[in-house]
Amino acid sequence: MTKKPIVLVVIALSASLIAADDYDRPPIRYSDSQPADSIASLSVRMNKQEVNLQHYGGQGYLPSLLEALGISRSSQILVFSKTSLQRQRINPRKPRALYFNDHVTIGFCQSGDVLEITAADRNLGTVFYTLDQEKFARPVFKRETERCLICHGASATQGFPGHMIRSVATDQTGELLLSRGSRRVDHATPLEERWGGWYVTGTVENHRHMGNMFFNSRFEADTPENGKTIALENVIKGSEYLEPGSDIVALMVLEHQLEAHNRLVRANYLTRMALAEQAEVNRLMGSPANYRSEGITRRIERACEPVVEYLLFSGEAKLSGRVTGTSDFAKAFESLGPFDSKRRTLRTFDLRTRMFQHPMSYVVYSELFDGLPSEARNRIYKRFWEILALKKEDGRYRHLSFEDRNAILEIMRETKNNLPEYWNKKPS
Ligand code: HEC
Repeated sequence: MTKKPIVLVVIALSASLIAADDYDRPPIRYSDSQPADSIASLSVRMNKQEVNLQHYGGQGYLPSLLEALGISRSSQILVFSKTSLQRQRINPRKPRALYFNDHVTIGFCQSGDVLEITAADRNLGTVFYTLDQEKFARPVFKRETERCLICHGASATQGFPGHMIRSVATDQTGELLLSRGSRRVDHATPLEERWGGWYVTGTVENHRHMGNMFFNSRFEADTPENGKTIALENVIKGSEYLEPGSDIVALMVLEHQLEAHNRLVRANYLTRMALAEQAEVNRLMGSPANYRSEGITRRIERACEPVVEYLLFSGEAKLSGRVTGTSDFAKAFESLGPFDSKRRTLRTFDLRTRMFQHPMSYVVYSELFDGLPSEARNRIYKRFWEILALKKEDGRYRHLSFEDRNAILEIMRETKNNLPEYWNKKPS
């Protein structure tokens, strides 16, 4: 046997874009593995008749599903661009509504055929489902492994099954002005470039943004509201939404969360693929099962670094004025905790100079984080410790003051399970 084919495999899999047949093969087996996410457990409860989803006229199963999953109505945000699955149902008078919590996002269209659902699974990452909006005696969730991934598993998500949230320019009908292009949005996107195609209720001082705006073919703003607060209830009058607004704070939280999930899923897949490849090489070479080459270790480290940067808000867009929402989303979100003995939580908002008071993401408590292979989780903890406690850093974490670092370390020690032992020592 020669070494050549092994080298080729290593090169092929280390590219950052992966293809569907990569994640449908071992070790991920995306399509034929059984998920264990919030929708899977709700299905079990429905089968045992512990939960029965109710159907209400125009809203179908939406209100009942939100209640069953504990998703607050105040998380409602509205997107009017015709950019997703049921595009023909979407327009500025009938925008698509999204609702979310830490684990699940639900898309609802007026007169839509289905509710569109993404759920976080600790092994499979982002899992897609639909729920038929027609009334059935026993509604069932359908796992979707193909049609959603046409968009949610393509270049926009680097080929991994993932979330999408974008800012686009549309005309008065919500139709995309293609030549203007679109941009992916996360917490690093400058506010000036955000929210094209979305309704935004609430205010942000000292920033313009593209929310609530339509454009003409010359890309001039073609709208009276011009990025200011709008009287949304007049625009969507007569339609059946659960809330009157599209809260700016909810929108910012979802943008933060979706990219955090995408990065966790990529770190998970890439680490498991690297480890599986090492196991195969060890088997072929007769090396000890726990042997790990430099190259594989580097690959795992590289897969984890985007998570470290993102969860510590490196590169977050700076706010130059106060952001104020219109619903009770912010209050409900903060009250979820967990809290330390000084009543501090990573969920406390700042919303004057940055999103959160303590720049360590609450996503650290998620199933996706805890479900990372231990090799990846340990690496991420080590990097957090180096940055927060040992202050080893290269400029990417200058936004973290001495007080920020200490507060994060203290809150994490009291609220995060299974921290490595060394987190309880005083840094030397
Ligand atoms: C034609 C491309 C396309 C297809 C197909 C598609 N989506 Fe999406 N989806 C989008 C885009 C674009 C967004 C970003 C928000 C927007 O522009 O409406 C999105 C956003 C979402 C969101 C909210 C953000 C997130 O990623 O969680 C959910 C939930 C969602 N889609 C579920 C689904 C499900 C379930 C399917 C399959 C049944 C599906 N989508 C199929 C384009 C698509």
